[in-house]
Amino acid sequence: MTLVSQDIDFNQYDVIVVGSGLTGSVIARELADQKRILLVEKRNHIGGNVFDFRNDDGILVQKYGPHAFHTNSEEVYKYICKYTNTFEYITKLNVFMKGKFTPSPFNFKTIDQFFPDSATFIKEELLKEYPGQQSVTIVELLKNKKKIIHEYAGFLYQSDYSLYTAKQWGIKPSEVDPSVLKRVPVLLNYDEQYFYDKYQFMPKDGFTSFVENLLNHKNIDVVLNFDFLGSFILDYEKLCFQGPCDLRDKIIVYTGPIDVLFQYKYGRLPYRSLKFDFKTLDCPSFQDVATVAYPEAEGYTRITEYTKMPYQKFDKTVIAYEYPEALNTKNEPYYPILTKESKMTFSKYRLMADKISNTFVCGRLGDFSYYNMDQAIERALDVARQVGRKQW
Ligand code: FDA
Repeated sequence: MTLVSQDIDFNQYDVIVVGSGLTGSVIARELADQKRILLVEKRNHIGGNVFDFRNDDGILVQKYGPHAFHTNSEEVYKYICKYTNTFEYITKLNVFMKGKFTPSPFNFKTIDQFFPDSATFIKEELLKEYPGQQSVTIVELLKNKKKIIHEYAGFLYQSDYSLYTAKQWGIKPSEVDPSVLKRVPVLLNYDEQYFYDKYQFMPKDGFTSFVENLLNHKNIDVVLNFDFLGSFILDYEKLCFQGPCDLRDKIIVYTGPIDVLFQYKYGRLPYRSLKFDFKTLDCPSFQDVATVAYPEAEGYTRITEYTKMPYQKFDKTVIAYEYPEALNTKNEPYYPILTKESKMTFSKYRLMADKISNTFVCGRLGDFSYYNMDQAIERALDVARQVGRKQW
């Protein structure tokens, strides 16, 4: 990877990739054996939201929230392993509610902790109602007619799910529609792990190092602090970019927000944002697991401790409080708010994007989708194949 100055001669390149997150970086790498690539990034670092760095104490900190790889895709796992060594990392989470730390997803330990007198009975009834199942969704539990099960589900819903979801999405607990929780599992055993994917791991030297390795190719140049849309504007009537030079014979891969690309022609796509309040503490450990959810706390939803993400031994530790907030002009779009209306708006943008023959719009912001990292990589590999098939 060569960092180049902002005084760019675009004519040197075949492909302009906008955004150096996982999506843009994988696509750049996949095309680099055949083409000259310019990767344009508006932030002052590569990696997008998976960016991590060592702070003054040497602790590896993830700037945009806790990230760990988990996937069932062998293709994605093998792809990642080409560019970094990895080690197993099983994500564990707790919830702090009613003065106690309990595992997330809730499991039989939760029942023992909160219902010690009737715990055996509740567990027996659950196993009878859902024989052979490892987990059941909270929505199914809430619908269960057995009083003891219904009460347990109601307790979880009132003490955690409704409060957490309300804060996460900026609505009142009474407005939370239980159906949005239809994929949230409650475990029917004592397992304490958050994901069940076949591959769960961390890149050995961190995510930024993994992205650096991806971009380490003689045909990839990177320019930082460069907002592509600050120089080029998409003329969506003529289906081409207007700017300091003609890009019509180039391929453009755009991984930023699709509504911004089209100058909000059909309105803004809704996102929820996050603010992270980092603190360095003079103690080696703050909490038992990397991330703890705080449904009852004022304002923040989670605390993540980075010396457990991955495990790092230091005299100090770094934690970050995570505050969900509305999207504004100063913060970043994190979670797409998927409603019928927002999906309709997105599909209008998608239709327009598909008409621009030399431009590919993708990634979590281009596709307006919540992608986990493995999904982002899968999508990037697919787009790279599509670009590769193009004649130009
Ligand atoms: P990403 O947003 O990373 O990259 C887009 C890049 O484009 C950014 O760098 C941006 O600055 C740049 N850009 C935009 N507009 C531009 C312009 N006009 N000019 C130049 N550059 C521009 N997944 C997982 O598998 N395990 C996990 O543990 C987590 N954890 C997690 C926590 C939190 C809080 C969130 C919000 C998300 C996760 N994820 C996750 C998901 C993960 O973050 C996501 O899959 C990838 O970061 C997606 O990478 P992209 O490249 O698509 O977007």
